[in-house]
Amino acid sequence: MTILVTGGAGFIGSNFVLDWLGACDEPVVNLDKLTYAGNVHNLAPLAGDQRHIFVQGDIGDAHLVGALLAQHQPRAVLNFAAESHVDRSILGPGEFIQTNIVGTFQLLEQVRAYWAALDAAAKTAFRLLHVSTDEVYGSLSASDPAFTETHRYEPNSPYSASKAASDHLVRAYHHTYGLPVLTTNCSNNYGPLHFPEKLIPLMIVNAQAGKPLPVYGDGQQIRDWLYVKDHCSAIRAVLASGRLGETYNIGGWNEKPNLDIVHTVCDLLDELKPRADRQSYRSQISYVTDRPGHDRRYAIDARKIEQELGWKPAETFETGIRKTVQWYLDNPDWVAQVQSGAYRDWVAMQYAQA
Ligand code: NAD
Ligand code: TYD
Repeated sequence: MTILVTGGAGFIGSNFVLDWLGACDEPVVNLDKLTYAGNVHNLAPLAGDQRHIFVQGDIGDAHLVGALLAQHQPRAVLNFAAESHVDRSILGPGEFIQTNIVGTFQLLEQVRAYWAALDAAAKTAFRLLHVSTDEVYGSLSASDPAFTETHRYEPNSPYSASKAASDHLVRAYHHTYGLPVLTTNCSNNYGPLHFPEKLIPLMIVNAQAGKPLPVYGDGQQIRDWLYVKDHCSAIRAVLASGRLGETYNIGGWNEKPNLDIVHTVCDLLDELKPRADRQSYRSQISYVTDRPGHDRRYAIDARKIEQELGWKPAETFETGIRKTVQWYLDNPDWVAQVQSGAYRDWVAMQYAQA
């Protein structure tokens, strides 16, 4: 048996592949385009491991995807591949439409053709698991209940709109063609191997470099944070036992305003790697112009996955964020390697008016 993972050189995908091969011997075919966000160094522990087959390519390349399915005969396809950064989607939505919508469509078409030709037993066993986000549900007010799986889709950014479109396509392929799909909608992840364009790794990296810590607007926007390894265990649970055609919300019951997150990161760094002048890293916080259309609050009601599949996060925010900060302190080479010229160009452009 084999699984095909797309986007397995990115933040969550690489954590998933590493955890999967740490827990079992079922081989992984890993299809990743290696955009700026994809990093083969994330998979360095698997060098020479026969169970991991890495292929550089696009989920929208019908010929390549069809050939990989025919060659490796996976029993499941897990789709992590996406353009994933809201700020980049605001600056240039084109790639988001291309990969998240058109790419998912092409992948679905290839998977549908492959699945239709399987024998009865393989057909019954097959799964396509589509990894999505809570951002498709839009923004909550302070008093709204958390997102359940039946919450209306109200995406507000080009990123979330493109993910919503991909979710709808996945749903339609189940309803129309009977493709055995599962969809997961997860809250904000954090943890090792997180590209430092997102809030938590950006703060850790900027703090140590003595740079400003850019907080958008009033810093009171709320996100529901989940340690990436917990997201990976939830995906394994949904793949193993999720009901066909269902969606599962995944979250850590961990709502926090951005400013609290930044304070926590600063306090951990103050403890683990104090500044030479003994001032707190909090003194580097800098309030900058808010993101256009910035969603105020996300919160996940994760009761369905807990009640149906018995899944719960293993980490609290306190344990997860400490591990995360420690990981960045222990891996300066990884940080230096991802901060390539292209990364520096992005930071210069995005924070130019800060
Ligand atoms: P990421 O940006 O770190 O990684 C995305 C990966 O996909 C990269 O390795 C990239 O090279 C690859 N990729 C991009 N376009 C591709 C294409 N056309 N073909 C093949 N590969 C391509 O993203 P992430 O944070 O790891 O997110 C993974 C998935 O999880 C995404 O679908 C995202 O929407 C979803 N998600 C992310 C979060 C989060 O907090 N990061 C939360 C919920 C859901
Ligand atoms: P981000 O990590 O980009 O994830 P998302 O937008 O998908 O939730 O941002 C998390 C929150 O942090 C979001 O409310 C925007 C905010 N943020 C900042 O305040 N400053 C920053 O430099 C970044 C990247 C994000």
